Amino acid sequence: MLSKKIQEALNEQIRIEAESSQVYLAMASWAEIQPGIDNVTAFFYQHSEEERQHMLKLIHFVNERGGFATVPALPQPQLTFPSIKHAFAALLQHEIFVSESINKCVDIALQEKDYATHNFLQWYVAEQIEEEALARVMNDKLELIGEEKSGLYMFDRDILTISMAHEQ
Ligand code: FEO
Repeated sequence: MLSKKIQEALNEQIRIEAESSQVYLAMASWAEIQPGIDNVTAFFYQHSEEERQHMLKLIHFVNERGGFATVPALPQPQLTFPSIKHAFAALLQHEIFVSESINKCVDIALQEKDYATHNFLQWYVAEQIEEEALARVMNDKLELIGEEKSGLYMFDRDILTISMAHEQ
């Protein structure tokens, strides 16, 4: 059985994962109408889908542990970006925010001596390490490219390989 405090923290995390999915969906839709970045577009759509899976995993956990997962209302995310570099910088900042939020949940699980939730959250802790690392790699690459179109062409060509390599 989940304590009230844990349930609240996990429902807040459900909201944040849902919001992340929306944020990346907006990036995907924006990228889709930019010329020549089909793989960047695919990356954002895929990332949005992964966030939805993160949300669902939490929903099932809360409900299976005798709580009630609440589906959140969401604000409209940022719809357009000055550049691809800006979109990836926003992605990194967002992942850092998500990691902080997961850490808060872990803290609360320990305070409440809820070791099942603590154990469940370790998957998210590991996932956040991967996601932040991946976002940093992409930001570093975009930094190297600068404003060059040929660099962006290669970035788009390589992005799915880079993201798959990180998931293994
Ligand atoms: Fe589910 Fe990228 O945080």
